[in-house]
Amino acid sequence: MLDTVQAATPMKPSLDEKALARALSGHHFIGGRFVAPRSGTSFAVVNPATGHEVARAAEGDADDVDAAVQDAARAQKEWARMPARKRGALVAQCAGVIREHVEELARLIALETGKALRTESRVEANTVADVLEFFGGLGSELKGESVPFAPGVLSVTVREPLGVVGAIIPWNVPLLLMSLKIAPALVAGNTVVVKSAEEAPLTVLRICELMARVLPAGCFNMLSGFGPECGAPLVAHPKVRKVTFTGSVEVGRIVAKAAAERLIPTTLELGGKSPMLIFADCDFEATLAGAVTSMRFTRQGQSCTAASRIYVERPIFDRFVAELAKRVDAMVMGDPLDEKTDIGTIISTEQLAKVRGFIDEGCATAGATGRACSAMPTDPALANGLFIQPHIFTGLSNDSRLVRQEIFGPVTCVFPFDDVETVLAEANDSEYGLAASVWTNNLKVGLDLAHRLEAGLVQINQNLVVQANLSYGGVKSSGLGKEASLESMLEHFMHKKTIMVKYT
Ligand code: NAI
Ligand code: MG
Repeated sequence: MLDTVQAATPMKPSLDEKALARALSGHHFIGGRFVAPRSGTSFAVVNPATGHEVARAAEGDADDVDAAVQDAARAQKEWARMPARKRGALVAQCAGVIREHVEELARLIALETGKALRTESRVEANTVADVLEFFGGLGSELKGESVPFAPGVLSVTVREPLGVVGAIIPWNVPLLLMSLKIAPALVAGNTVVVKSAEEAPLTVLRICELMARVLPAGCFNMLSGFGPECGAPLVAHPKVRKVTFTGSVEVGRIVAKAAAERLIPTTLELGGKSPMLIFADCDFEATLAGAVTSMRFTRQGQSCTAASRIYVERPIFDRFVAELAKRVDAMVMGDPLDEKTDIGTIISTEQLAKVRGFIDEGCATAGATGRACSAMPTDPALANGLFIQPHIFTGLSNDSRLVRQEIFGPVTCVFPFDDVETVLAEANDSEYGLAASVWTNNLKVGLDLAHRLEAGLVQINQNLVVQANLSYGGVKSSGLGKEASLESMLEHFMHKKTIMVKYT
């Protein structure tokens, strides 16, 4: 049994993100309570804008995983017996609690991830409530079918929850990506154990605590820890009946192999190298604004759907690149908690080194030009912050590492093109297939490309992030299975049982 500890987290929303971070320190959340890790060990949570340690995170291991999964398994029996609409109503009620705490959650996520409050963190916190509300309304949609089989035999299918769901999440949009997993899992009658990302364990822990004010104990449990020590035992635990993972392709493969060994289903959401195809007949200003949003530079490019390859029809290529650089120049990089800031920091020194490596390589490539945009912050308090200037590259060839690999930083590569077939082939020439967008006023061209682009999500004249109610998930190495929609809940968090009744 783990020790229950009294965390000094406030009942009311707190706008003192540093005090809240300290209060959340050193805890998992299991069975409706904060608990200390069995090992007694913890690791640092660092504010990437200053380099200062803001909290300690509980370092979970297989013992903690076992405690959380056992509790979740106990709670699941009762939870699954609750009428589905009641479960949905409770999940929707959680949305209300989250809404009351949006400002608090936004400040806390900005503190631990370096994502700017106005452009990213507040938006993300609100989206969590939106996702919970959406799935909360779907309780009565967990329907089966009646199947014509034979006279005198009633044959029906019913949908049942899978049991305990293990959810492993990354650090880039941890609140949103977690909500896309826990909301459908819970409404479907499963209970969940979430393993947070080592870089961003605090805000998701607070959300777990807030939701426990509404949900029965044990329905939603949260562990922090490292991948091999805490994530792997979660996938391997005999009582975990499904795993849903968002993160790198590399770890996605490890998770899928471990799940295959146990013959449990997995959903994998694994990043991308998303192309943006811009035709000369597009609405130039709207497309420019769309490109700025698409590159996700407000999130320092740390987005799986970031437009990291932009193909522009030759007649407008030079003008487009020049205007794009100007737009990014006008963006303000600085303190994530400052309302004026557009662009915050990279998440960690490891990621910063990785992104720098790509930028240096691009700049050193013969024939390539890397435009450094925006400006580094000058505030001495941010001198150790993990800031990096966004880069727009031209002149790279399609076999450059910058064009082939997911950089997960504020870097985009722009190319000219002359004809539809060539640009389509280039766009599809990627290991990834998550998202794509086409910008044109010729709907014939746009729709034709929408059908022929190899991606899970194609948008014409916009490039939004994942939306509740729209199936989301990649093809090729970008993943397996869908999230965010009713179908994703039915297909990935439930199984169909056939019941036959011979009545004559
Ligand atoms: P990662 O894939 O290593 O981490 C994601 C999650 O998996 C974390 O919670 C981590 O603790 C967990 N994990 C790691 N090893 C595990 C294992 N053996 N078993 C179970 N769980 C494990 O991603 P990382 O290292 O943070 O980022 C590396 C790269 O991955 C990024 O540069 C980016 O290219 C990509 N990435 C893509 C994301 C997306 O949204 N598609 C999100 C985060 C990273
Ligand atoms: Mg990793």
